Amino acid sequence: MLSYRHSYHAGNFADVMKHVVLTALLKYLTRKDTKFCYIDTHAGAGGYDLHSERARKTGESDLGIAKLWEVNDPPEGVAAYLALIHQFNPSGRLVKYPGSPWIATQILRQQDRLLLCELHSSDFPLLQNMFAKDRRVYCYEEDGYRFSKGLVPPIERRGLVLMDPSYELQDEYDTAITSIAKMHRQFSTGTYALWYPILDERRTAQLRRHFEALKIPDVLHLELRVADHQSLPGMYGSGMIVINPPWTLRTAMEAALPYLVSKLGINDKAAFRIDQWADE
Ligand SMILES: C[S@@+](CC[C@H](N)C(=O)[O-])C[C@H]1O[C@@H](n2cnc3c(N)ncnc32)[C@H](O)[C@@H]1O
Repeated sequence: MLSYRHSYHAGNFADVMKHVVLTALLKYLTRKDTKFCYIDTHAGAGGYDLHSERARKTGESDLGIAKLWEVNDPPEGVAAYLALIHQFNPSGRLVKYPGSPWIATQILRQQDRLLLCELHSSDFPLLQNMFAKDRRVYCYEEDGYRFSKGLVPPIERRGLVLMDPSYELQDEYDTAITSIAKMHRQFSTGTYALWYPILDERRTAQLRRHFEALKIPDVLHLELRVADHQSLPGMYGSGMIVINPPWTLRTAMEAALPYLVSKLGINDKAAFRIDQWADE
């Protein structure tokens, strides 16, 4: 039984970083006319009301998208992301926050496809309804780890896999890494982005070691901490491991992440990290 609901967390600082990276990855794929496939292994509900009881209970978006809503000096990568969030809020007031699938539908073209997995019995129908009229979108009420392995390589032979788990189960870090490694073996030219929360430094270092042991060449590792564990118990940062990143991503993140630190940082422990893991 899944208990995690993204509606409690939508638009938090981790969503901001994740969706800035997602926007950059998808925009890069549209540079060529050739069609591609976007696979979202943990898709969520598709969109979220920031005034709902759940969102207000945590107030997480106050430390995330709300701090960026009215900025006027964002670097290109952040500006592209913010344009989409504004598009999702046509009234001009920040009242809703889009999920990764909606962001993808705005960037993909007619020739591209979106394959979305969501296992929660309440979030799945919301996701399905949101995209019921979009013929590019296929929704699966399936386990994203197991089911997505059967989706690669996609017929398009070009694509991006976003793995954005809720990490509810104890062994989920291992499951996520193992699944992404299997998918990469089946479709080695695809781009993969694995998101993870930073809750303590020991667990984060372990995850990094586990991933490094796979010896996958060409990985860009990104992290954003808005504070340290002492001042923000619980999640105080998040990271993304990107396999086969486009060559433009590093430069884009060298501008975007320091900007996000300056806007979303809570104290002087806020920091970013960008590491390229090269071939053996
Ligand atoms: C962090 S949220 C996803 C947010 C979404 N990717 C976004 O950026 O808007 C994780 C989602 O995964 C779902 N989930 C948990 N375990 C799953 C599994 N094994 N397969 C598919 N979905 C799962 C949860 O119900 C939740 O909606």
